[in-house]
Amino acid sequence: MTVGKNIIVVGAQWGDEGKGKVVDMLTEDAIAVVRFQGGHNAGHTLVVSGKTVVLHLIPSGILHKGVYCLIGNGTVVAPDALVEEIHGLEQQGIEVRSRLAISSGCAIVLPSHQMLDKMRELALGRNAIGTTVRGIGPTYEDKAARRGLRLSLLRNPEALRSQLEAILDAHNFMLEHCYGAKRFDVDSVFDMLLSYVEDLTPMLADIPNLLGRYRQNEKHVVFEGAQGCLLDLDHGTYPYVTSSNTVAGYASVGTGIGPREFDEVLGIAKAYTTRVGAGPFPTELHDDAGDLLFRHGGELGAVTGRRRRCGWLDIPALKKTARNNSMSMLAITKLDVLDHFDTIPICIGYRCGDDLLDEAPEDSLLWPECEPVYETLPGWKSSTRGVDRIESLPYAARCYLEKIEEIIGVPIVLVSTGPEREASILLGNWL
Ligand code: GDP
Ligand code: IMO
Ligand code: MG
Repeated sequence: MTVGKNIIVVGAQWGDEGKGKVVDMLTEDAIAVVRFQGGHNAGHTLVVSGKTVVLHLIPSGILHKGVYCLIGNGTVVAPDALVEEIHGLEQQGIEVRSRLAISSGCAIVLPSHQMLDKMRELALGRNAIGTTVRGIGPTYEDKAARRGLRLSLLRNPEALRSQLEAILDAHNFMLEHCYGAKRFDVDSVFDMLLSYVEDLTPMLADIPNLLGRYRQNEKHVVFEGAQGCLLDLDHGTYPYVTSSNTVAGYASVGTGIGPREFDEVLGIAKAYTTRVGAGPFPTELHDDAGDLLFRHGGELGAVTGRRRRCGWLDIPALKKTARNNSMSMLAITKLDVLDHFDTIPICIGYRCGDDLLDEAPEDSLLWPECEPVYETLPGWKSSTRGVDRIESLPYAARCYLEKIEEIIGVPIVLVSTGPEREASILLGNWL
């Protein structure tokens, strides 16, 4: 029997690399798409037949009929946000419920988690992380503290009630005494959760078991990362990170199948770099070039609508994420955004104190001291928008891609030249 491949897709920068678009594309040949970490802090944009869909919790395979969408145990789920997203898709005529399976091990994001997130950010003032204020950090904290609620509790209202009382006690104490904020009423949060029982419990399923069965199929399964590897809790620019592990290794932990089950790791990087929220960003631009990247790239956050910070491509950072993920393939997105530049600098190293580094350091506290060293490549000053064959790219654009591939040492298998599914160049026969 043929065995389908398990492919992990991760963002190789600080998020918003175009994971949604690429996962949607790969789904053409897949039986299922699985989320393994993060929550509704993610915003993955798909543009299909002129329509734009932004997904937060639902895997980016949902626009393909007949593809299963799975939410693994490593994901944190706000029941209200999930049900709202399901309704939104249903209103567009997309069948969701028969194709969505959710792990009962997912941690529940409560309204009090979101309030704690907000209050902590306010208290941090100038040192705020710049979170999406979706309650993601506090939810993962409670999970690690072993007092979090899991979706399986929706099947047992009595246990749900008593665990909710305990956790709200802790939240209310913090809200009231640390932040002078309002308390949450147990009855109303309980009623809110109960109101989603009918919607959500039929979709709870045994995800490791389903994945085991899909493996024995000639179709592939795509493991869809959220955020980006430089936002990883352990390997990112701590403390300016998200609260989950975003690297490929977590696809195993966050879905319940072991590391020997994975075949490929596809890293996605923009042809330049962006970051939303605070934290070090060595190649950030504060000039007209940064403004051009922002405008041509449409760099407004898909979740919070915040302006994304923009800068040139950072190769040392990509080398680090290639290593942290054992990346076997690379996709470069938004190449078309660089159409407008005479010359294009790429950062090929960092000057860090007396050292010259060609790979970003493990120690995140060194990042703010890293000064980028640039090499300048010629621009192509012509449109690559929508190009779908490598031969049709201008020579300088091909040289730009070759340079990236050569320095990082990971083959580029996909180049994206626009938000639409079709605006893609597939290289080689890698599936
Ligand atoms: P994700 O979080 O990684 O899925 O990325 P987002 O959806 O947050 O942000 C990527 C944005 O770039 C979305 O608006 C996409 O529609 C858009 N996009 C993706 N690929 C391309 C591309 O190749 N060119 C252009 N111009 N836009 C793209
Ligand atoms: P996708 O999946 C970009 C950032 C926030 C903040 C930090 C912590 O669309 O690429 P959090 O709310 O997670 O505690 O915020 O992480 N962040 C993202 N940045 N894309 C995302 O998701 C992000 N999800 C979180 O801006 O800096
Ligand atoms: Mg996004």
